[in-house]
Amino acid sequence: MDEKLRVFYELYSRRRSVREFEDREIEPEKLARLLTVLNMAQSAANRQPWHFIVIERKDRDELNGALRREGFRDAPVIIAACADPDNAWVRKADRRNYAWVDVTIAVTEMIGAATAEGLGTCWIASLDPERVKNILGIPGHMDLVGLVAIGYPKEGLKKENKDRKPLGEVVHHGKW
Ligand SMILES: Cc1cc2nc3c(=O)[nH]c(=O)nc-3n(C[C@H](O)[C@H](O)[C@H](O)COP(=O)(O)O)c2cc1C
Repeated sequence: MDEKLRVFYELYSRRRSVREFEDREIEPEKLARLLTVLNMAQSAANRQPWHFIVIERKDRDELNGALRREGFRDAPVIIAACADPDNAWVRKADRRNYAWVDVTIAVTEMIGAATAEGLGTCWIASLDPERVKNILGIPGHMDLVGLVAIGYPKEGLKKENKDRKPLGEVVHHGKW
């Protein structure tokens, strides 16, 4: 396999959710690159129905109190990913609103970039969204899709299994 391709696929097999972080800041230029990737993501009809809040540790007393897992409180950066359903593309046939899909795609792109930068990430959806929206001053009409903890993975973290359903169980060919 071509070297660039090998690196690409290796990146995706390497990514794991990281829930414990080193006491080390993310370099500002790295963070800037991640934010650019977030904002370059594709979205339905290019509506970009998203807002992101970057919350550094020094500004996190209240937010940390709303996080169940202690490990997340040490992450140097947490990004809140917000969807704006009023500005998203809506499919006519069933009125399906694509705001959450678009935000999730943007976050996924950023997670790929963060992995390439040597950073660890974890989505955090297990929270009280209204409480977190209040803490962060997120307007009522916006949806909090989730938080993403980002930082250098704690050294010596044991690799968890990539425990996945067999491909044959979830991929259908031609028809379900
Ligand atoms: C939308 C979403 C929400 C998640 N929420 C949490 C969470 O609240 N807390 C947590 O510890 N992990 C959370 N995770 C991480 C998943 O548990 C993890 O991705 C899954 O177990 C697969 O492991 P891996 O990411 O290491 O491959 C979330 C992942 C996704 C995609």
